[in-house]
Amino acid sequence: MTHSRSSQFNNAELYENSYKENFSFWENWKLFLETLDESKVAKAQEHLQNFIKNDITGKTVIDFGSGSGLMSLCFVLLWAKKVLSVDIDDNSIECAKILRKKYEISEDIWEIQKGSILDEEFVSSLWKFDIVYSWGVIHHTGNMWKWLANISKLVDVGGLLYIAIYNKSNILIEWTSGFWEKIKRIYAKNRLIRPLFKLIYTSYYILGLLTNGINPIRYIREYKSESMRWMDFFRDIEDWLGGHPYEYASVEELEKFYTDLWYAMTNTFRARSIGCNELLFVKK
Ligand SMILES: C[S@@+](CC[C@H](N)C(=O)[O-])C[C@H]1O[C@@H](n2cnc3c(N)ncnc32)[C@H](O)[C@@H]1O
Repeated sequence: MTHSRSSQFNNAELYENSYKENFSFWENWKLFLETLDESKVAKAQEHLQNFIKNDITGKTVIDFGSGSGLMSLCFVLLWAKKVLSVDIDDNSIECAKILRKKYEISEDIWEIQKGSILDEEFVSSLWKFDIVYSWGVIHHTGNMWKWLANISKLVDVGGLLYIAIYNKSNILIEWTSGFWEKIKRIYAKNRLIRPLFKLIYTSYYILGLLTNGINPIRYIREYKSESMRWMDFFRDIEDWLGGHPYEYASVEELEKFYTDLWYAMTNTFRARSIGCNELLFVKK
């Protein structure tokens, strides 16, 4: 397997993809591709390896809701035997394919398929994996608990389930989450209103930084290296506003849910606010 580090790549043909009626992550992925560099890939790999702790060499992996494909790429670069990336969004699929081509990875090692976690026939047609990874996806399905159970069927005995789900940690945050559900619904449905929402939310965010004595210019400049997804500030704002349907759960709720399904939680990364909790389970 050769992982060329050449960054010469022309993805112009994909820019012809048209916008969809509903919110698509494509604009985000396009910007992501333009700004992706080796240090971001290295940081993403490091995070993955530090969280999973187990050796990824020779493992089979499914990345459900692969988005940009960055984490699928990391699994490949960490010597997974086989990685299957699945996403419902054509543009995300194209983005992952651009990365695969750029890194000269064979389709036998990194397979990319369009598919939905909501498609039971598709999910049951898949084999079992050593690692099932789904970061920031199932809370966008509109029936989170059902699909959290469904995705766990893809984990082989002794295998790992790595998920990230929006946090709900206390009464105040639960109220906040309900409020955001409405805002995101409006944003996803009304393209014309998006610039206004972006402006209001960005201004509100910056005001929050200023009142906490944080320099917003430095914060925005350093955001990429601090952010878990290695996205820049403005791209993350779009990701946040555009991600709908939107559900949430606490670490404790998820731990209980998967314990009942015969999993043991082996690692967590707790979100500070209403961001994503990351959880790692092993199937007993
Ligand atoms: C917030 S992005 C996260 C992307 C990626 N997992 C990451 O960690 O950067 C959510 C992704 O889930 C995908 N998605 C949403 N609903 C899905 C579904 N029902 N089946 C598969 N993918 C889905 C979206 O298209 C999008 O690419």
